[in-house]
Amino acid sequence: MSCVADLKIDLVEVCEAAARACAPFVGSGQKDEGDGLAVDAMRARINQVKMKGVVVIGEGAKDEAPALYDSEAVGTGEGIGVDIAVDPIEGTNLFAKDLPGSIVTLAAAPAGSMYQPGSCFYMDKQVYPKAARGKIDPEAPVADRLHQLAKALGKDIREVRVFVLEKPRHKQLLQEIYACGAKVRLATDGDVNGAIQAVLNKGSDALFGIGGTPEGIVTACAARAMGAEMFGRMAPQKDFEIELCKKEGIDTKRIITRDELVTSDDCMFVATGLTSGAYVDHVKVGRDAEGRFMTTDTVVLSSSVGNIRRVITTVHL
Ligand code: FBP
Repeated sequence: MSCVADLKIDLVEVCEAAARACAPFVGSGQKDEGDGLAVDAMRARINQVKMKGVVVIGEGAKDEAPALYDSEAVGTGEGIGVDIAVDPIEGTNLFAKDLPGSIVTLAAAPAGSMYQPGSCFYMDKQVYPKAARGKIDPEAPVADRLHQLAKALGKDIREVRVFVLEKPRHKQLLQEIYACGAKVRLATDGDVNGAIQAVLNKGSDALFGIGGTPEGIVTACAARAMGAEMFGRMAPQKDFEIELCKKEGIDTKRIITRDELVTSDDCMFVATGLTSGAYVDHVKVGRDAEGRFMTTDTVVLSSSVGNIRRVITTVHL
């Protein structure tokens, strides 16, 4: 029987195509131009994949960036039904400034298995590695959660490092983390990057804080594929969003579990590095006897293979 995991090479090629298309704009200061090229390349390649895909989590609504739009049908329309969550450039500012942590990313899971966040563009997230799964009380105060995490990892609290987006809304969160002696890895953008660092034990032990909801769903697929832990909570930030969430009756207090964010084990996370990163390298552009080439580095997390797959691809242009 076919499953989402069977699509992994196709979906790797979708991310690679997007990365090659926007790579010339890394460090150009022009995030929208790069984003537009990534979106177009992603759309062209994903429409060749044999599946009945639907973009259930696209991007664009939060910041009016170029996007694969929500409810857009993707794929050839044959084969299995697939929910797709995409972020053609995650960390557009990092991309434009050539700072670490920008990736092309998508996640896939069987049709109907990804959480529908309504009009809520921001989510409060907690992501922990597999060793902490089932050992964290998501409603406990920050200090208690960090002690639970330290115990689960067999670390002293001073060795625990939490990835947090550097935003004014996180002032109190940061104070609470520092107060109990844990360390913080700050970044201006890119909380998928922070979450994957925690999931893969690549420099951070957890991700805390409020970031985009699309990024949250993509992260949930990575966490579930790797057996890691995640909790979300809807956290609207912008006035219009707060209004819409009230109208839609969105509960901003309820903790949403990883398995509600994606209800199937047959889920996959794919990320291709654009700028340098903790778990994927940046796109490399070079020239040899055959001419100009680009080399991409992609990671695939898929529970069906139960492992982490790295795909390094060189394409002559
Ligand atoms: P973009 O790639 O859309 O710029 O998102 C970057 C990002 O930092 C995400 O990683 C994060 O989830 C979100 O933006 C946070 O949103 P905001 O910058 O509006 O606080």
